[in-house]
Amino acid sequence: MWIRNAWYVAAWTHEIESGRIHARTIIDQPLVMFRTATGIVALEDRCPHRFAPLSLGRLEGDALRCMYHGLKFAPDGTCIEIPGQKLIPQSACVRRFPLQVVGSWVWVWMGEADNADAATIPPSLALDDPAWRLQAGQLDYDAHYLLIDDNLLDLSHLSFAHEKTLGMDMPQWADLRPRMAPLERGLRFERWHTGHRPRGFMKKLGEEVDVWTTYDFLFPGVFLQRTCFHPAGTADRSGRGSPQGEPLFYRIDEQAVTPISGRASRYFYAAGARANDIDPDRLERLFAVTTTAFHEDKRLIEEQQVILERIPLEQRSIFTPADQAPTRARQMVAAMLNA
Ligand code: FES
Ligand SMILES: [Fe+2]
Repeated sequence: MWIRNAWYVAAWTHEIESGRIHARTIIDQPLVMFRTATGIVALEDRCPHRFAPLSLGRLEGDALRCMYHGLKFAPDGTCIEIPGQKLIPQSACVRRFPLQVVGSWVWVWMGEADNADAATIPPSLALDDPAWRLQAGQLDYDAHYLLIDDNLLDLSHLSFAHEKTLGMDMPQWADLRPRMAPLERGLRFERWHTGHRPRGFMKKLGEEVDVWTTYDFLFPGVFLQRTCFHPAGTADRSGRGSPQGEPLFYRIDEQAVTPISGRASRYFYAAGARANDIDPDRLERLFAVTTTAFHEDKRLIEEQQVILERIPLEQRSIFTPADQAPTRARQMVAAMLNA
């Protein structure tokens, strides 16, 4: 069962090249995407004639021709040509999915078009925003998207799964629970890590710093995180709430999990920092560590998927305090599915 009335990230904008046809599947629904003079479109990847995939078709200007028997479709999905026939029946049209570009992500609404509200799309940065220096990647998972969501909702795993990468010298990730607050379609997390000793090129920030981390986790798996490194003592000075004063270093992590099928998902991610805080060389290094860490997650989660397929459904897992957020999120998904 899928939640259809939702926006899903289908691609990075730079992936949808002019003159090329892209096949993508989201929640088991095959889509064909291409760029027109006025923007990107997403249609159902199925010709209404004999159901051949339109992704095997041909672009003719802004129109898409099915290369089985030649029916031609406008970007809005209406049929504009049937070889050997003058009259075009209204039923000869392809479903068009509402699509929006926000930042550098292409979002597709998978539900009823009338329910699509672009205002509900989470704000994310454009990769070319001059205030930031960001690098982007993606990973294909052989796993259900909710397993990846669990991972993003419980960062206690950083201290262990990423002991040599993102969680290095940070036992607090596992030991201290973040503050958590409900959002319209997700959860917000905030926490201070005090007395952190920066390593590598971050050493210049000082012997010890206080690190403020906050992220919004939004359905279906959007993770928008800000990490601010402040002079030691800032956490207490700020009453352990939002930091007062300018950060010494401001890091950004933005990720989106898109379900493809019941055991396949795509993971889009961008990482970087404020343009003034990082040069291209260091960004390269920061991104390399991040990518290594995401492969650490992938290895665990894909094996977890295999084990879950083998064990009986009634087998209960053990609950720890760190499971509070994933459990809460699963309840939210169940409520959305019921609705
Ligand atoms: S299946 Fe597309 S034209 Fe026949
Ligand atoms: Fe992770």
